[in-house]
Amino acid sequence: MDLPIVDSLRGRDLLSLADLTTPEFHGLLQSSLWLKRAWKAKVRPRPLEHKTIAMIFEKQSLRTRSTFDIAMVQLGGHSVLLSQNYIGWGVRETIKDVAYNLERWVDGIMARTYGHGTLEELALHADVPVINGLSDALHPCQLLADYMALQETFGELAGLKVAFVGDGNNVCASHVNAAAHAGTRLTIACPEGFDPDPRILAAARDRGADVTIVRDPREAAEGADALYTDVWISMGQEEETERRREAFAGYTVDPSWFDALSPRGVFMHDLPAHYGEECTEEAVYHPRSIVFEQAENRLHAQKGVLFQLLRDA
Ligand code: CP
Ligand code: NVA
Repeated sequence: MDLPIVDSLRGRDLLSLADLTTPEFHGLLQSSLWLKRAWKAKVRPRPLEHKTIAMIFEKQSLRTRSTFDIAMVQLGGHSVLLSQNYIGWGVRETIKDVAYNLERWVDGIMARTYGHGTLEELALHADVPVINGLSDALHPCQLLADYMALQETFGELAGLKVAFVGDGNNVCASHVNAAAHAGTRLTIACPEGFDPDPRILAAARDRGADVTIVRDPREAAEGADALYTDVWISMGQEEETERRREAFAGYTVDPSWFDALSPRGVFMHDLPAHYGEECTEEAVYHPRSIVFEQAENRLHAQKGVLFQLLRDA
């Protein structure tokens, strides 16, 4: 099979999985899986030769920063790493001015921001694809890697029972969007006050997403094929540490939870993990954990995204 091409994605932004059609979502997954298999078989196409992306980070990153850089190199291109300290965007100069400069030099921009509106502003002004490398609202590239891992583990996505246990912010919201495309049955357990954005939930349900919200995390885990958690205190929320630790008491996933999963059920986490809060180290290093498969897939998911958005006609 040739590398799957999704014509409608060329030149587009990727700010949210909700901006994709379901065939585009599956096309991204299939091309990422193709590129992973190809890389492992030492088949190494270089469709992005001579292309460059700029990477802008307002927040820290290990996986996203490394894998976008490596993905560009593996596809024949390059990346330029920028950070708030280097460019001072919104302070030293406006986001619009940054966009109008960068678009003259690079073929795409990947940005990690606090406010999602910053990404939207960048995308509005930049005449090259803008990719969301995590905002306070969403983390679409993470979910592409995660759904690759689910596809590899279970062979099929539709009907899988996914339990997300934790804060309803960026990673959870992208779970909602992914479930709408993939036909997974998503149960979210979060304390009152930490629900996902109701507009994202409503839009996903309009598209047929099967999403349930419960308050008991053990109930969510019951019979789940995938039990997924994320930090209680996201980047930028450090001042709320005590309030959040109290709110999420009882949400610490450890291997004793795994008995409640379906017989093939797996544990997932986007990382970094705050051990002793949302999960224990034993859960991450447990035989039923696919956490490092998710991390591995970040590389190949970025390649799928970069290929589809930045490729030549
Ligand atoms: N999961 C994830 O996005 O990791 P980083 O914050 O290290 O990029
Ligand atoms: N929810 C976490 C995800 C990190 C990849 C955060 O925003 O910090």
